[in-house]
Amino acid sequence: MQEDQRSQGKVNREHWLEEEEHLAQRIQQAVNPGGERAIARLAKQGKKPVRELVQALIDPGTDFFELGVIAGFGMDYPGGVRDVPSGGLVTGLGKIHGNWSMIFANDSRVKAGTYFPITLKKHMRAQAIAEQCGLNCVYIADSGGAFLPMQADVFPDDGHFGSMFYNMARMSAMGLKQITLSTGGNTAGGAYIVFMADEAAMIEDLAYSFLGGPPLVKAAIGEEIDAEALGGAGVHARISGGADHICKDQMEGIERIREILSQENPQKLHCRRWEEVPPVVNEDRIYELMPARVHQAIDVGRIIECFADGVGLRGYKSDYAPGRGDKIITGKIRIKGIPVGVVAANDSGIIFVEAARKATEFIVRCSMEKTPLLFVQNSPGYMVGSEAEHGGIGKYGADMVRAVSNARVPRIQLVIGPDNGAANYGMCGRAYRPHFLFSTMRARTSVMSGRSAAEVLLSLEKRKRQTEGKEMTEAEVASFRDGLLKKYELEAHPFYCGARLFNDRILFFREIRDALALALEVSLLRPIAESTFGNFRF
Ligand code: COA
Repeated sequence: MQEDQRSQGKVNREHWLEEEEHLAQRIQQAVNPGGERAIARLAKQGKKPVRELVQALIDPGTDFFELGVIAGFGMDYPGGVRDVPSGGLVTGLGKIHGNWSMIFANDSRVKAGTYFPITLKKHMRAQAIAEQCGLNCVYIADSGGAFLPMQADVFPDDGHFGSMFYNMARMSAMGLKQITLSTGGNTAGGAYIVFMADEAAMIEDLAYSFLGGPPLVKAAIGEEIDAEALGGAGVHARISGGADHICKDQMEGIERIREILSQENPQKLHCRRWEEVPPVVNEDRIYELMPARVHQAIDVGRIIECFADGVGLRGYKSDYAPGRGDKIITGKIRIKGIPVGVVAANDSGIIFVEAARKATEFIVRCSMEKTPLLFVQNSPGYMVGSEAEHGGIGKYGADMVRAVSNARVPRIQLVIGPDNGAANYGMCGRAYRPHFLFSTMRARTSVMSGRSAAEVLLSLEKRKRQTEGKEMTEAEVASFRDGLLKKYELEAHPFYCGARLFNDRILFFREIRDALALALEVSLLRPIAESTFGNFRF
């Protein structure tokens, strides 16, 4: 038996290491758009690659926690644009003088840093995290503005271009500093990234900002003028007053931004943080414990042991309704000393009434006690069938969704398996605005499994064909089913979801503990509000 487990563990490890190798490759593709040639072009312009600038901005010896690294792959935008590496915008968390800050940096190597729909989505998401967690924002701006062939998809709507500045204005009013370093073009709407900032620095002979660039000025009023004289750093620092500082190069600009933020009060964690205790099981064991097959049952308690502090899980109703109540594990753990309530889909992950009721109770309890919540998602959905329906699975699932929606404590979701149907809601999926949503290579997010979707659609197709008097042949059935399975496999995959920013970051298993601790820390920088829950059904 032990021998079997060991060899299964080996198979699992090999499988996940290979999967994560694909992830590492995808990240490599994302961080180096255009290769050496693009770097050489930047150097000629006096610019460094954006991630080097970001690294210089954050405290020496600290790491940048990048979000949405693989955003923008396989998007098939107009003009033959398929990939927009990292969405053309680097976003993430870094410490500046000890304070967590949200950093935004346009990558001019990706279509001049212009905003595609995915760029905007990424910008909005980072601003939402900053607002939710109370973080100062630094914008390293170098963008040609809207990606003009898609103006209707990036300009007029809520969540489009204007929302960037709306968010800046509101965050500034909340006391969250909005600081811009302009290191390149900021044209038309893009100019507001400079002018809306609380404080802005521009680089001499490199940065410029204007509502209409030279060609537009010529067309509109016949004036002939070059970019520098129209809206260069000198114009805005010395004449218009639109910028507060002029710097000789990017590195001086970065130093100036650090200086501006050096006056900030230190951030404070709104929880009692205990001394960190290493996990009882080495984190590396996750590679063995995570079954290679996504739909195979897991013992989620053993996975939690690998990333939680070695003080154990203080279970909540651990003995309640064996075989049904334990399809979700609830209890208190600590991660690097931070107490957190964990709601983890266990075994097959199918949520029965008893598990839903227990989870709801626990979410309410943690909210009242102001304990953050971690949802470990591995659920293909709530139980179906007459017994479950008559037993109230609909209303108890809805109660769980209500609790998740109204819990005002920090909430983090980690997806380690199937993530389907209403279980996506009850386990705090994207629509429930978790402070952070992390995925892994084992995650599969779709409305239902490919197999179920194929059967549903196949039955509809067969009915339609019957009314038309045309039965489906066996070959047609097989091809229909196969096509749908492939489509779902593709779309549920973490790469597809990561490209569209359905998650904030795909974690390597070995990163889980560090990432969760960081996310909890950042989410606890704001005082926790009181929760009220409205009308439960039970
Ligand atoms: N929309 C669509 N594509 C754009 C674009 C825009 N706003 N701005 C630049 N691009 C494309 C270019 O066509 C080019 O595409 P290619 O690589 O397929 O040839 C690529 O982005 C790089 O642009 P390039 O002009 O070579 O880069 P640069 O570093 O020399 O100059 C700018 C950058 C921003 C100064 C320059 O591209 C520019 O002036 N763009 C127009 C800005 C503008 O008027 N925007 C209005 C927004 S509301």
